[in-house]
Amino acid sequence: MINVLSVTSECAPLVKTGGLADVAGALPGALRSEGVDMRTLLPGYPAVLKALGKAKVELEIADLFGGAARVLFGQATGLDLYVIDAPHLFDRPGNIYLGPDGKDWPDNPQRFAALSWVAAKIGAEGIGGWSPAIIHGHDWQAGFVPEYLRLLNADPNLRTVLTIHNIAFHGIAPPEAIKTLGLDPKRFDQGGYEFWGRVSALKAGLMGSDRLTTVSQTYAEELMTDSFGMGFDGVMRFRRNELLGILNGIDLGVWDPATDPNIKPFKTPSGKAANKKALREEFGLPDAEGPLCVVVSRLTEQKGLDLLLNAIPTLTAKGGQLIVLGAGDAVLEASFRAATSNPNVAVHIGYDEALSHRLIAGGDAILVPSRFEPCGLTQLYGLRYGTIPVVALTGGLADTVINASPAALSKGVATGLQFAPITTESLRNALSKLCTLYSDKPVWQKMQKNAMAQAVGWETSAKAYAALYEELAGRS
Ligand code: ADP
Ligand code: GLC
Repeated sequence: MINVLSVTSECAPLVKTGGLADVAGALPGALRSEGVDMRTLLPGYPAVLKALGKAKVELEIADLFGGAARVLFGQATGLDLYVIDAPHLFDRPGNIYLGPDGKDWPDNPQRFAALSWVAAKIGAEGIGGWSPAIIHGHDWQAGFVPEYLRLLNADPNLRTVLTIHNIAFHGIAPPEAIKTLGLDPKRFDQGGYEFWGRVSALKAGLMGSDRLTTVSQTYAEELMTDSFGMGFDGVMRFRRNELLGILNGIDLGVWDPATDPNIKPFKTPSGKAANKKALREEFGLPDAEGPLCVVVSRLTEQKGLDLLLNAIPTLTAKGGQLIVLGAGDAVLEASFRAATSNPNVAVHIGYDEALSHRLIAGGDAILVPSRFEPCGLTQLYGLRYGTIPVVALTGGLADTVINASPAALSKGVATGLQFAPITTESLRNALSKLCTLYSDKPVWQKMQKNAMAQAVGWETSAKAYAALYEELAGRS
């Protein structure tokens, strides 16, 4: 058994804003059969403490960035959890990152430095008789782990891995944070956690971790380029020998059309018809000749949905329809609401897990026109449910969909459509092509069958993580 501490700011189903939660929630289970004892360190947000119920106090900290804290150990939703009970940092309503004004909580640097510090403390001293051989952090929220391990004089054999789920978030703080976060001032330089004169938790993790991974091979390559590195492409090139792309999987226990309690279950594509009918009724959409397209997404610049807003007329002119489930940017929310003046467009603004299952089950196609996408999970759900993905050719979207090119169609291996460049015009072309393919039933059904047969679970990637841990722990 290799002991691994996973350090994450969100974890499904307890607390989720995006795909990071799905990954953090599914990996420990997927790794169990690979000889990895993965335990998860999470901030004690109200929902997490509630789900934890009765738990053991394993550690008491007199002052964790401005208040007393305890680390609790317990089980919830099949996970072994260490939870940081620190009300001054985590006992807040609403979004875990944003205040009621929609802006980052001003003390986010302290809140997630606390997460990293507790991880390092567990790494340095063990906890309740358990010690990790590897600390595996996720995104900037776990970035300071290597810095704190140094300050706590941890065993140099303890290894660290940082997974980049999205390099757009840098964990920036002003230079005064060197003091407030208790960092080593000597490491405020290019080789440490300094980023253009400010403190960056992400930079600390990228420079200090033994290995870096990201969630697809294409994104690993993209990260080293000016267009995708978001200012860190130089750092990524510097660390290219320690960088590895491991594709995300999806939790097949949660996303299985044959057993999904949120839908009318089905095993073959023909079973989708009943779900589609129910969905049209739910959203008051008329019958139509073309494909029913769905979107399940955060509404942000990243996701390229402004391109879709411009392309809607092309889709509906060809008999297609669209249902969007999403929340986020106020301008995008308003634009999608306004788009419902088209009778073949329906929109639900909000976050709704059960509805996301109904959309993916009942849709003919799922649209993911992202400008960048480290991995993307909804196209994988689409594949599993025979809902043909139409995706931008980038990141994990490039690695998970087999484009319906003439060659792939004639060989009968296509699973979806990819478009490039990532512009309205090429999305329009992809949607036109989608409508044409949809009207050719034998071709369409073959694509659905291929999609549903594609391996989208964690099996391969769990083995890749286990192999990485074994190598780092010196066991291979
Ligand atoms: P990201 O992490 O960038 O948001 P992913 O595709 O990796 O993108 O993961 C998004 C996750 O969040 C998926 O599980 C998706 O189903 C879910 N999701 C996004 N928006 C919503 C929503 N409005 N309602 C329900 N689930 C959503
Ligand atoms: C990020 C990315 C997304 C990825 C998810 C899980 O939120 O935007 O592409 O699937 O993390 O790794």
